[in-house]
Amino acid sequence: MRFDLLTIFPGIFDSFLGESLLKKARDKGLVDVRVHDLRPFTDSKHGKTDDAPFGGGDGMVMTPQPLADAIDTLKKEGPAKTILLSPRGTPFTQAKARALAREERLILVCGRYEGVDERIVEHWIDEEISLGDYVLNGGEVAAMAVIEAVFRLLPGAVGNATSIRDESHETGLLEHPQYTRPEEFRGHKVPEELLSGHHENIRKWRRAESLKKTAEVRPDLLERLADEAPLPRFSIALVHHPVAGKNGGEITSSITTLDVHDMARYGKTFGAERIYIITPVADQQVLVERMKSHWTDEEYLKKQNVRREGTVELLVTAATIEDAVAHARKRSKRVKLLATTAQRVPGAVSAGQWRAVAAEEADEWIIMFGTAYGLGKSLMDRAERTLLPIEGNAAFNHLPVRGASAIILDRLISRKRKEPI
Ligand SMILES: C[S@@+](CC[C@H](N)C(=O)[O-])C[C@H]1O[C@@H](n2cnc3c(N)ncnc32)[C@H](O)[C@@H]1O
Repeated sequence: MRFDLLTIFPGIFDSFLGESLLKKARDKGLVDVRVHDLRPFTDSKHGKTDDAPFGGGDGMVMTPQPLADAIDTLKKEGPAKTILLSPRGTPFTQAKARALAREERLILVCGRYEGVDERIVEHWIDEEISLGDYVLNGGEVAAMAVIEAVFRLLPGAVGNATSIRDESHETGLLEHPQYTRPEEFRGHKVPEELLSGHHENIRKWRRAESLKKTAEVRPDLLERLADEAPLPRFSIALVHHPVAGKNGGEITSSITTLDVHDMARYGKTFGAERIYIITPVADQQVLVERMKSHWTDEEYLKKQNVRREGTVELLVTAATIEDAVAHARKRSKRVKLLATTAQRVPGAVSAGQWRAVAAEEADEWIIMFGTAYGLGKSLMDRAERTLLPIEGNAAFNHLPVRGASAIILDRLISRKRKEPI
């Protein structure tokens, strides 16, 4: 692969090209990096490559003539993708580095001053790449970053190809922490899991740490993963016990027939396995069963000319959430609980963050919705994960359970359809 660098400060690249793995890759003939001084391309008698901006303002702008001539001259040697390093470009990512590593040749144009004349960007540049949301004095450091990220992906450039595969951003996540000898350093020990020699446990620990770090530092990466992550199986639990009472503590609320009926529709619409109606009160369980038989009685439905949509069949009454978990375990090995709440709970995750990891963490999730003043504390503590609250634009936050659950299910389960309906 060949890189051509265009710069007014060619000396900046001297030690960069002559050290470490890049030097080795050049010696092996894997990469060819050529640095071109822009100044000899200028028509200006005084070797000028910049001028004052039209319209006034501070600083100088790189004139189009030397850049255009330099790029044209380089292109005479064969096709190349021409990239301008610019804070106005699209952010440089690992995916971009991978895409560029597939190119035969890149011309990297390093800007200086206030940037380059826009006509160069429009007619001579294929792509603008930014290193990040900050401003450097020139494109040289950015070009070095691009070369370094790209050349190491070329086969044979880095000794161990698997070390690249597991790195931060390759998997869409940040990498797990790394440790080396000694096992204990100034009282700080290496995590036991890594010393166990048990490969599966080490893999699990690393994956969990990688997810933890990404959630802490770059939750946006998890959001991005969410669209590709498989959707897990899920059920819904409408909880009447234990729920929070008006004055604190845990109480039992009573069934609302409309809630039960609507939850069944949500379940059918979003694709839930079951809708668990959690109440320990026997009479209330009977009420749910009566509702069910009312809506499944063929004779009655025929008489009323009502369509049966298979919604209420999803309803299952359970005395406790543990009964619901046991019921779900008959079809799913690993069942976990997702709590929903109007409160901001430390460690709570967004819908996207949950979706990014949900299928990996469990075979089925039971999404719990609390009636009354929300899920009781013991249930909140029992849940493996808690979802961030829906928040409006007011201090008041008390949505009806039917409304909140519709919004939450839409956030958790709906996804961009790839194929037309
Ligand atoms: C001082 S900067 C010009 C900034 C420009 N006036 C603006 O506000 O967008 C000079 C040159 O440094 C390079 N540069 C600065 N920040 C960069 C970044 N974040 N990524 C890539 N190149 C950068 C570009 O080549 C740019 O033309």
